[in-house]
Amino acid sequence: MSEYAASVVAETIESKPDCKLGLPTGSTPIGMYKNLIQFDLDWSNVKTFNLDEYENISHAHPESYHMYMRKNLFSHVNLKEKNIHFPNNEYDKTIKAEGNLDLTILGIGHNGHIAFNEPGSALTSKTRKVKLAEETIQANSRFFKTVDEVPKHAFTMGLQTIRESKRIILIASGSDKWDILDECFNGNVTTDRPASMLQVHPKIEVFYAS
Ligand code: GLP
Repeated sequence: MSEYAASVVAETIESKPDCKLGLPTGSTPIGMYKNLIQFDLDWSNVKTFNLDEYENISHAHPESYHMYMRKNLFSHVNLKEKNIHFPNNEYDKTIKAEGNLDLTILGIGHNGHIAFNEPGSALTSKTRKVKLAEETIQANSRFFKTVDEVPKHAFTMGLQTIRESKRIILIASGSDKWDILDECFNGNVTTDRPASMLQVHPKIEVFYAS
């Protein structure tokens, strides 16, 4: 799964050196980044757009998504600082002006969230500040000393911009993700399970590793 996702990112960069990538964090994509940094790729014209970031967290905090990306990808490749993007007020406009994302890699939360689009997020939701679901706070507390340290809000790319990505690869690992994957991709399309809204995307691949 990780090798495949990395190879698709690499092929995308090779075939379109100025491609726009939507990139995830979390434990699942770590293997993909490990594989990806082994490729000899020219990232100098690539633009990256991260899916999300916690609110009120220093970029130097070890659990910030800025730091995660620096550690797992940015410090290993020749991506230009000015081409690195995280959610901001102009995110949807900027991405649209770039012709939309060429490829987005997604993980999935236990409640079916993608990026930080929690259950209830609209199909047309924009990049915005969101309140994290209690189960997301609990799940992410494994990265912090205590659950109280987990930020309660975050900034996320909205479902609209994710859905407009030309190609999507969703990766999920661990037996605890099986049921939600099954519900999202074999069940009804519903805002109760945000990932289910991707069922109708014309170019999505979903991977599961136990
Ligand atoms: C986090 C992130 C998501 C990620 C998900 C699953 O809360 N905001 O982008 O896909 O949870 O993470 P993991 O792969 O660690 O289970």
